[in-house]
Amino acid sequence: MPDTLRYMVCNFCKSLEYKGMRADIQLLPRRVQAMKAEGKVFVVIDVLRAATTIIEALSNGCTDVIPVVTVDEAFDLAKRLPGNDILIGGERGGLKVDGFDVGNSPREYTRDLVSGKRVILTTTNGTKALQSVARYEHILVAGFTNVQAVVQRCMVLKADPVMVPAGKKGGFSLEDVVCGGMMLDLLGKEGVALTDSAGASRILYKAFEGDLLGMVRSCEHGRELIRLGFEEDLAFCVQTNVSSSAPVFKKGFITLD
Ligand code: MLT
Repeated sequence: MPDTLRYMVCNFCKSLEYKGMRADIQLLPRRVQAMKAEGKVFVVIDVLRAATTIIEALSNGCTDVIPVVTVDEAFDLAKRLPGNDILIGGERGGLKVDGFDVGNSPREYTRDLVSGKRVILTTTNGTKALQSVARYEHILVAGFTNVQAVVQRCMVLKADPVMVPAGKKGGFSLEDVVCGGMMLDLLGKEGVALTDSAGASRILYKAFEGDLLGMVRSCEHGRELIRLGFEEDLAFCVQTNVSSSAPVFKKGFITLD
């Protein structure tokens, strides 16, 4: 067996020995809705791009993000909420929706634009994934930009982390699973046990850790974003640990705690 593979298998087996916290990843997003929530923290991952956008907006002083599923909901909510400090953001087909203030590129969510503002956000997969776990008590938002902060928050909570890759239309998305694998690698190093799917995602992360940009450039959604002219977003979204925020989704609002 080659040395790198032996190293990964040994680490994987070692992590299974631990009998305290146990981390999981739901490789198919639709399965998460049937889970028992007790003692768990759900970590919603959408590297390209909703989670990265949410992390960036909150890091730049946005007061809170309200994720909604449909474009109509976003417009209705903006009408009903008091105050003028509201931005409606998000995408359909990767592009800003007509009548929205801002799209779904994290690079648009600058301090100048979002500081002191509330953002109502709707995206094709990311905000849907968030709403699919909305009834659970502990929910965090993660991308590569804040992996370490999310892992630390999981360790403080002492709850079993369940990674929820937003995926693509209910299916598998490589970039979200690799990001989940990175957090699971860190959790494994903290002595947290990993399920089989968590261990497999960690191995997938290890396969790409030296070239995260190459990974997002080659995955389905990355290729689509390049085609739409958002190539610079890819490099932005694979920056690791540039944010120390682990946004929390509770009672309909995403905030810094
Ligand atoms: C999504 O939620 O599907 C993504 O954030 C789409 C995008 O890249 O804008």
